[in-house]
Amino acid sequence: MADKIPVILDGDPGHDDAIAWMLAASSPMLDIKAITTCCGNQTLEKTTYNALRICTLLGIRCPIAKGRPTPMVAPPMTAGAVHGESGLDGPKLPEPEMELEEIGAVELMAKIIRESDEPIQIVATGPQTNVATLLVTYPELKEKIRGISLMGGGIAYGNWSCAAEFNILVDPEAADIEFRSGLPIIMAGLDVTEKALIFPEDFERVRAVGNPVAKVVAEWLEFFYKFHRELGYEGAPVHDPVAVTALIRPDLLEIRDMHVDIETKGEYCRGMTVGDMRGGSTAKPNAKVIMNIDRDGFADLLVEAVKTYSKEV
Ligand code: BDR
Ligand code: CA
Repeated sequence: MADKIPVILDGDPGHDDAIAWMLAASSPMLDIKAITTCCGNQTLEKTTYNALRICTLLGIRCPIAKGRPTPMVAPPMTAGAVHGESGLDGPKLPEPEMELEEIGAVELMAKIIRESDEPIQIVATGPQTNVATLLVTYPELKEKIRGISLMGGGIAYGNWSCAAEFNILVDPEAADIEFRSGLPIIMAGLDVTEKALIFPEDFERVRAVGNPVAKVVAEWLEFFYKFHRELGYEGAPVHDPVAVTALIRPDLLEIRDMHVDIETKGEYCRGMTVGDMRGGSTAKPNAKVIMNIDRDGFADLLVEAVKTYSKEV
């Protein structure tokens, strides 16, 4: 097998962030160099506590650092209705077995990228605050970033407003910096993630794996589905793991090169990812936008990932 891709996972866990990290940690293709937290689904304190508990459960042992407490410009916004008061309501999780790094997320990312012999891939599944702050604070490190695979946006529509998806709406200025950075960007937006539906029968396949991680993941899926079922979804749209899938199983995805701008000023459209879908457009693509997914293959991938965890707690 080719060398593993070194990755930094940045997120705001969050049920689907947690499942994305479960998928990343299960993959022999990825080497997790650090985990960093941002505010989004809940306050930074809560997402950071969740990150420590998730890493304890999954056996991820890498430096973990707390990110920026607020978006770059906008006031913070949380998603308690979706992820609960804790940001990760549902199953009981083990208390953290590790300490946070003394330095913050942006400084940790910079240190890891600077000291690495090979370019580092970033997987960002929350608002893009930490990553954009890294790019503006340490522009000299850009050439050592392999790319950014992010969950955010939606070419066709939004979820937190008609036009905007939650992660981008929370910090549009940060997303704007990223999409203008010239770095290779993979965008897993709502166009694909709302097709990445995990159905109740899949929850049972996960649970039947029988190990402690499987039990927790099945309950996370159930909790995450509750909110979406009320809105008429037939399954849980498991957004964030699609940004990991892009690195380990791109064969499951349909990807389109596109120019994407971030609306930072609109009265109705702030946070919109404005993708140029015009045939014959001369706008130079700045992102690989994922448009579709082999849903059954994705569900199988999650079930197989859960099987890699130990039978012991
Ligand atoms: C995104 O928002 C969060 O609630 C999820 O974790 C995901 O990253 C979906 O809009
Ligand atoms: Ca997230």
